[in-house]
Amino acid sequence: MRILLIAIIFLLPNYNLLAENSNSSKPKHKWSFSGFTGTFDRASVQRGLKVYREVCSGCHSMKLLYYRDLIDIGFSKEQVKAIAADYTIIDGPNDEGEMFERPARPSDRFVSPFANEQEARVSNNGAYPPDLSVITKARKNGVDYLYNLLLGYKEPPEGFEIGEGMYYNKWIEGNQIAMAPPLDEGYVDYDDGTENTLPQLAEDVVTFLAWSAEPELEIRKKIGIKVILFFIIFGIIIYLIKQRLWRDVN
Ligand code: HEC
Repeated sequence: MRILLIAIIFLLPNYNLLAENSNSSKPKHKWSFSGFTGTFDRASVQRGLKVYREVCSGCHSMKLLYYRDLIDIGFSKEQVKAIAADYTIIDGPNDEGEMFERPARPSDRFVSPFANEQEARVSNNGAYPPDLSVITKARKNGVDYLYNLLLGYKEPPEGFEIGEGMYYNKWIEGNQIAMAPPLDEGYVDYDDGTENTLPQLAEDVVTFLAWSAEPELEIRKKIGIKVILFFIIFGIIIYLIKQRLWRDVN
């Protein structure tokens, strides 16, 4: 009986491990920002912003971002002003009590494509394009999942019943998604001469979305390294003190 119990206790976590593994068998991509010291590739984040602006922003909002946040990814104040000014905001009321339109400013949040969820649904066959501000955190293995999703549109296998207005995707749960394939080779032209293949566009937009979800990642890693260094040095000092104090006993 006891042996059985011990066996169960040891096997249970293993089962979990196995389940975990089968779930994360999705292909993993190599990211500039992964690992202990990885940082966001600035050029890639900037290209990803371009992909978001020219493609995804037609349907997806990013309400948690302000235009001024773009200074973090290497844009100058003037560039940020110019990017913001491309968008129109409804502000007000003015002295006559009326709402009015004005160009967005760096202190404004990213302008959403739809006024509200209902309007978004009506324009998308009833489906709701989620806000992308923290989407890489809102999905398991978010960055790899998103990258795979963007590359995962395929012809449905024979016999697969696909709903109306739905598209087959290898990586979404249930294998159908209401978003038409948003990217393909050449959809966005890059100014820095980078090739605009589908995997490149996907990598850049996911890098941008990873930054927007975790802009403090680089600071967090830097602090982590400092803390570890501190503990190593602190450990050595404590060891030396201990040697000294116990000198007579040893
Ligand atoms: C024409 C509108 C449209 C465009 C453009 C678009 N999407 Fe979507 N997207 C949708 C809709 C609608 C859904 C909801 C799908 C569903 O619920 O089945 C969605 C869902 C998603 C999801 C959530 C998937 C999940 O796991 O639930 C992600 C991530 C996403 N889109 C990313 C992007 C990215 C990145 C781009 C730009 C490269 C983009 N989308 C462009 C309409 C769009």
